[in-house]
Amino acid sequence: MNLLEIMRTSPVIPVIAIDDLAHAVPLARALVAGGIRVLEVTLRTQHGLSAIRAIAEQVPEAILGVGTLTRSEDFAAARDAGAVFGVSPGLTKELIQGSLASGLPLLPGVMTPSEVMAAREAGFHQLKLFPAVPAGGVGMLNAIAGPLPDVLFCPTGGISQETAAQFLACKNVACVGGSWLTPKDALAAGDWDRVTALAKAAAGLK
Ligand code: 3PG
Repeated sequence: MNLLEIMRTSPVIPVIAIDDLAHAVPLARALVAGGIRVLEVTLRTQHGLSAIRAIAEQVPEAILGVGTLTRSEDFAAARDAGAVFGVSPGLTKELIQGSLASGLPLLPGVMTPSEVMAAREAGFHQLKLFPAVPAGGVGMLNAIAGPLPDVLFCPTGGISQETAAQFLACKNVACVGGSWLTPKDALAAGDWDRVTALAKAAAGLK
């Protein structure tokens, strides 16, 4: 699957931070049961790579991304663990090299028109607008669709079930990212039914 196909698989990509490795598989199963198959597991906790490995082995329906990629050496490790795409908060020369060398497609973060242009020059046409709401949200996306029409976004950062539809209505948005499908209290309580309900609601967004 290429990045465009992955972004078009479902309207929302949950951004997941695993504090307890035992949560990884039941959480992934709960999201998949709700119709959300594309999952971004971040490296912002120590369990990120192990969680990716466990989900890849035990939840084959999941299409796994590795998030919060900030170092080139993490690309190959994430790919070997089972990730099929990467997400980063920004874009650097090192990350471009890491993506090329590992073969792991990268959805890089951008926040300004110049960053969109630099990413495009580096060959990236699918981008994460991050942090989406502080960057200007829907107004920003609509404003850059005119001068920069040939890029497609996954806005992430500050989006909720209530606001996601406004973003998805933008012609340059393929999907959105967010952490609202995986509330920390639901994970701590092992309330997987709640996660599945949140996933179902998100999967129904247009
Ligand atoms: C993050 O920074 O954790 C992600 O971009 C998700 O942002 P959110 O918590 O605002 O959805």
